[in-house]
Amino acid sequence: MSSSSRLSSILLLFLFVFTLITASEGNFYENFDITWGGNQRAKILNGGQLLTLSLDKTSGSGFRSKHEYLFGRIDMQIKLVPGNSAGTVTTYYLSSEGPTHDEVDFEFLGNLSGDPYILHTNVYSQGKGNREQQFYLWFDPTKAFHTYSIVWNPQCVIFMVDNIPIRVFNNMESMGVPFPSNQPMRLYSSLWNADDWATRGGLVKTDWAHAPFTASYRNFNANACIWSSSQSSCASKSTNSLQTTAWQDQTLDAPGRNRLGWVQKMFMIYNYCTDFKRFPQGLPPECKRSRFL
Ligand SMILES: *[C@@H]1O[C@H](CO)[C@@H](O)[C@H](O)[C@H]1NC(C)=O
Repeated sequence: MSSSSRLSSILLLFLFVFTLITASEGNFYENFDITWGGNQRAKILNGGQLLTLSLDKTSGSGFRSKHEYLFGRIDMQIKLVPGNSAGTVTTYYLSSEGPTHDEVDFEFLGNLSGDPYILHTNVYSQGKGNREQQFYLWFDPTKAFHTYSIVWNPQCVIFMVDNIPIRVFNNMESMGVPFPSNQPMRLYSSLWNADDWATRGGLVKTDWAHAPFTASYRNFNANACIWSSSQSSCASKSTNSLQTTAWQDQTLDAPGRNRLGWVQKMFMIYNYCTDFKRFPQGLPPECKRSRFL
């Protein structure tokens, strides 16, 4: 083999490998824009397979999806800020835009080393939230990557952690409760300092001696309907999924209800649906069903 043909076959091989990487599933370059803290605090690494957000004394960082979705299943593996993360908040949520926006929220409130994170969740529909539920996790979310998922279809929104449902918001439009059903949403994530309220209501302050604080993301997967504003429709289904689960009509089956019951019994630390003091006029209408899924 001449040296020039060897060179061209090496080049071909490089091109081939490069194409494989750029076309691979869940690539962060293809699916996300860094919206905050670019270059210094937000980084896409390993050819787009890993993303890190960090927070230092100057500021935090964040990213958002290039696409807007209208129903789908979104999965992301996240490893949260380790060690003393008190005062930091890592958000991971779907949101539409405008005053009557819809939003499905995961927020991870950091803590002192050895003390548990709080997973804070909320659902906004037509601009109205106030539907908080909070949980401890059954593992240390800083030691390894875990999968946080949102299943969103016309029947319900399901929050899942490692494929275990932790919360369900059912479509109860028939009972007058708005449901996120017609506003396309983007996926967002950010890492920021919230030591004015996050850890024990703001009592524990962020310890900047431990900065920068870093959270890592990988294996993004959207098995979802991608919104196209020019056509006012879902133009394409993303195909970057090996999963065969049909999210389109997924609701909680009996094993799902059992697991949800286990999480709510063992790990739920706040539920707006049982906060009678907060709603002296009566609990919100969706609470009638959400306690007995
Ligand atoms: C931090 O740990 C304390 C003590 O275990 C706990 O009461 C609190 O809920 C934890 N989470 C936050 C965000 O403060």
